[in-house]
Amino acid sequence: MILVTGGCGYIGSHTCVELLKNEYDVVILDDFSNSQKEVVEKIEKLGGKKVKLYEGNMIDSSILNRIFEENRIDAVIDFAAYKAVGESVIKPIEYYKNNVATVLELIEAMKKHNCKRLVFSSSATVYGTPSYVPITEDSKIGGTTNPYGTSKLFVEQILNDLYKSDEEWDIAILRYFNPIGAHESGLLGERPNGIPANIMPYITKVCKGELECLNVFGDDYDTPDGTGVRDYIHVVDLAIGHIKALEKLEKEKKGLFVYNLGTGQGYSVLELIKAFECATLKKVNYKIAPRRDGDIAECYSDPTKAKEELGFVASKSLEDMCKDAWNFENNINK
Ligand code: UD1
Repeated sequence: MILVTGGCGYIGSHTCVELLKNEYDVVILDDFSNSQKEVVEKIEKLGGKKVKLYEGNMIDSSILNRIFEENRIDAVIDFAAYKAVGESVIKPIEYYKNNVATVLELIEAMKKHNCKRLVFSSSATVYGTPSYVPITEDSKIGGTTNPYGTSKLFVEQILNDLYKSDEEWDIAILRYFNPIGAHESGLLGERPNGIPANIMPYITKVCKGELECLNVFGDDYDTPDGTGVRDYIHVVDLAIGHIKALEKLEKEKKGLFVYNLGTGQGYSVLELIKAFECATLKKVNYKIAPRRDGDIAECYSDPTKAKEELGFVASKSLEDMCKDAWNFENNINK
């Protein structure tokens, strides 16, 4: 049985579906601070199996202990975290509490119940401003510019120290690049609260007529067309990456592994807009705006290690990502 914390969120929900499809039993812990309860039914429908739900936050060790006492948990995939970069600058205490302190509660409860297999949701943000691209896992980490990024860096360090103290643990740290897209059914996708900060939900809201115009943050970067380059990965590919990581831990037994999850291909903001227009036949209203604070010119992965050690290769195209994101946007509230 796998405990998925934050299992109703954007990446968590897609991962639960893949787990169920791969015959795993799933227990979800979610506090619904940035997700909706109806996601549970959708996960069950797409995965073809029931899940067990606990509502609460990991900071509450009593709910964690209850989950371990009531279920035979073999491994944990930890997604439960806040993830809005801008908000984290305004609310650092909340971010460190919810993204770091909760992990201490989780690993303490895991240790107490002798469950020492963990997949942790990290981010390419830990590389700060990368010294080279494509980014390999042994690139320097650090230099994060906001509490969200720093919280991921801190947890990576905590997990390294944990493993050093007790090599019975199996830990996979997954550094995501830019997850976008949605489940092809249109049932699951990204539903950020308020005005989206990330590009894809912003584009879909512009095309839906809910926002007026996309601001392209800067066209004077040192990139082929001057706009920022990112490694966009379909959220279902990313979810599959978690299954591969879990299988690796089950096979290896003991170890701490770090993987980039990306496609290895960078696309600029203008290329993404063009791809969206081709895939959906919608016009994206946009204008060039000043650079956004904290943004970097280029960030894309070297996905070789995940390919060689996990057999993971992202298979969905930028067109799939755009089509599925648009399909989901049109399904919201249906
Ligand atoms: C951001 C976070 C990163 C986090 C990730 C989660 C920052 C600096 N980084 O990555 O830590 O892990 O989200 O999804 O916030 N863009 C526009 N107009 C917009 C929005 C974005 O032009 O309205 C551009 C950005 O400048 C960037 C690209 O689109 O070049 C992608 O932006 P975004 O989706 O916000 O992701 P990141 O900034 O790469």
